[in-house]
Amino acid sequence: MKKLAVIGANDFQNQLILKAKELGYETHVFAWRAGAEGEKTADYFYPISITEKEEILEVCRRIRPDGICSIGSDLAVVAVSYVAEHLGLPCNPVSITHQCTNKAAMREAFARAGVPVPRFVRTGRHDGPDLSGFSFPVIVKPTDRSGSRAITRLETAEGLQEAVDAACEASFEHMAIIEEYLEGDEYSCECISQDGVHHFLAVTKKFTTGAPHFIETGHMEPAGLSAEQEEQVKAAVFAGLDALGIVTGASHSEFKLAADGSIRIIEIGARMGGDCIGSDLVELSTGNDFIRMVIDAACGRPISVRSGAPLRRAYVRFLLTQEDARALERDRARTDITICRVSRIDTDLLGHTSDSSTRAGYYIYTEAL
Ligand SMILES: Nc1ncnc2c1ncn2[C@@H]1O[C@H](COP(=O)(O)OP(=O)(O)O)[C@@H](O)[C@H]1O
Ligand SMILES: [Mg+2]
Repeated sequence: MKKLAVIGANDFQNQLILKAKELGYETHVFAWRAGAEGEKTADYFYPISITEKEEILEVCRRIRPDGICSIGSDLAVVAVSYVAEHLGLPCNPVSITHQCTNKAAMREAFARAGVPVPRFVRTGRHDGPDLSGFSFPVIVKPTDRSGSRAITRLETAEGLQEAVDAACEASFEHMAIIEEYLEGDEYSCECISQDGVHHFLAVTKKFTTGAPHFIETGHMEPAGLSAEQEEQVKAAVFAGLDALGIVTGASHSEFKLAADGSIRIIEIGARMGGDCIGSDLVELSTGNDFIRMVIDAACGRPISVRSGAPLRRAYVRFLLTQEDARALERDRARTDITICRVSRIDTDLLGHTSDSSTRAGYYIYTEAL
């Protein structure tokens, strides 16, 4: 029987586990025991934290999986590459893991490859960073976290130390990055790579709360760019993927499109976009089974990408406020959209969201193009 090792067991990963089972794989799932859905759906569950890569490798040497993958966090990316590389399975090389998961190292890799980057500096709490030559506003963020944790936009140097302190506190390596603010609307580009060849799947438009904390409020796919703009996005994103050395699997490239049409990359994840983008919106809008592609790429099976016009427009909308909850009730009554899923809603959080992990819930819907 074909075997797939999966890193992580939360609700999001569970979609990967279920897809693998549907495709006839025996699933071997690794995660810290926390009562997650994937612990029950896995054929074999190993209560090993996703950070314990050596331990996972030891178990995988016995299991001999056909592939190893994850659709989750940057944290899982580390274990996936480590184990796959040791077992000779298709993966991004371990040597690129750091620049794929650390925002400062990523900026350096882009700059080396000639991919445009904003002016930036990496700093610890007590470094007193030199911002001469910087133009404000700037963004301060942890080098190695995600989900808009501890992100601050500053209009002037006032509040810089507090912002750096907050970012360093949130950072695993206790470091922050300060970078010039990129103007423009925000998008992401979803791709799948195999043997160093990148395949474009979709561009997603992102909506956030804006300054100061930029928490995602929703995503829309396709993003409504012209064919010409989409070609430019592909070129810029593929250059970014090459700069990082990404050769296999899903990627999620966040970028801003400036008023003059230039594309500036915010960051690239060597994994699917979270927030239901990779797991739901891509398939709903393009008909491409992205999760299956991730499994195929991990197991070295040729992926096949459906090209051509999008099928429909897909949205995810997050509930942050009472007004968002009322919008859901209004949308439930609409006949011009199809609601595909409504998550569990934690009404206590409405009006109290401080980052993307404290949003109250979400719903996914589609409409005709
Ligand atoms: N240099 C920048 N210019 C403009 N906006 C930025 C910049 N860096 C981050 N942001 C905003 O903050 C959000 C989160 O930053 P990001 O680097 O993607 O961190 P995270 O890992 O938390 O997603 C971005 O999606 C964007 O809205
Ligand atoms: Mg991001």
